[in-house]
Amino acid sequence: MRGKVTIVGAGFVGATAAQRIAESNLAHVVMVDIPQKEGPTKGKALDMLESAPLMGFDSHIIGTSDYKDTSDSDVVVITAGMPRKPGMTREDLIATNTSIIKSVIEPVVKNSPKAILIVVTNPLDAMVYAAYKLSGFPRERVIGQSGALDSTRFRSFIALELGVSMQDVQALVIGGHTDVGMVPLASHASVAGIPLAQLLSTQQIEKLIERTRKGGTEIVELLGEGSAYYAPSAGVTQMVEAILLDQKRIIPSAVYLQGEYSVKDLFLCVPVILGASGMEKVIELKLPLNEQEMFKKSAELVRQTVGQVRL
Ligand code: APR
Repeated sequence: MRGKVTIVGAGFVGATAAQRIAESNLAHVVMVDIPQKEGPTKGKALDMLESAPLMGFDSHIIGTSDYKDTSDSDVVVITAGMPRKPGMTREDLIATNTSIIKSVIEPVVKNSPKAILIVVTNPLDAMVYAAYKLSGFPRERVIGQSGALDSTRFRSFIALELGVSMQDVQALVIGGHTDVGMVPLASHASVAGIPLAQLLSTQQIEKLIERTRKGGTEIVELLGEGSAYYAPSAGVTQMVEAILLDQKRIIPSAVYLQGEYSVKDLFLCVPVILGASGMEKVIELKLPLNEQEMFKKSAELVRQTVGQVRL
C-alpha cells in the first residue's frame, strides 16, 4: 500500500472517490464527516471494506468524525460542502461552503501538515483559494479538481459525436469551473493524433464546447437533487494516483497562478504536471486569439467570485 488518503465529506462525491481509490489499491482511505453523520460515515466505510475480498483490494477504509484518525495523510481530498440544486449556479454556494471550508482546514492542517490538498467543493476556484489562504501551504500542495472533470466531459462528448473509442480522444478544458468561464480548447483536441478540426465541422465543435460548459448543469437538472459525482470522483482518483505514484501526469487542474498565462494571485485551471510534490510545473500553452480572449474573460469572472469570499 502506497499511502494514506483522507476524504473530508463522505457524501456522494466523497464516498464514491473513497470507493474508487480503495478499489484501485492506491492507498488506505479515511472518510471524515461531521459528528451528526458519524454513523452513516462509519457504515459506508464498513460496507466498502466488506467488498474487498470480492473486488480484490487490500486498502483499509474507515469512517470517522475524529480528525485524529486522519493524521499523517499524504493526500487530503476536500469534498465537504453543499451541492447545487436545480436552478442554482456553483457561485450560489459561496457563503455556505466558505464557512464549511473554514471549519475543516484547521483540523486537516493540524493533523496532516505535510499533506497535498485536493479541493472539490464548489464554487471550485473560490473554495480552493480559501483552502490555500487558510492552510498556509505552498501553492504546490493546494490543487483544485476541475479540469480533470471538465476535460473528461469534453472527451466523452467528442467520442459520442464521432462514434469512436473514448480512449482515443484527447482534449483539455482550462479556465474557471463555471458554465460561462470554462474554456474547452478545440485547438488542442485530437482523436488518435488527428486534430479535431479535421473530423468535425466548426458548428459541431461549438455544440460540443457548449455542452461541456453546461455539463454539470445538465447532470444537476437530470438528477433533480444533488450534483454529479461519478465523473468528479473519477477526476479525483486520477489526480490522487498521479500524486501517490509520482506519475508526472499532465492533468488540467486549478492552481494558484503567479504570472503564468498573465494571471497573478488567482486559482484557475491550466495544464500542470502532477507528481509526488503535488503541482510540479505549470505548462503554458500557445493559444489562438479567441481562446486567449475566453481565458482572459474567465479570469475576470473568477476574480469577481473570489472577491466575494470572506475568510
Ligand atoms: N465537515 C465535514 N463534512 C462536512 C462538513 C464539515 N464541516 N459540512 C458538510 N459536510 C459533509 C456533509 O455532511 C455531506 O456528507 O459534506 C458532505 C457533502 O456531501 P453531499 O451533500 O452528498 O454533496 P456532494 O454531491 O458530495 O458534493 C460535495 O463537491 O462537487 C462538489 O458542488 C459539490 O460542493 C459540493 C461538493
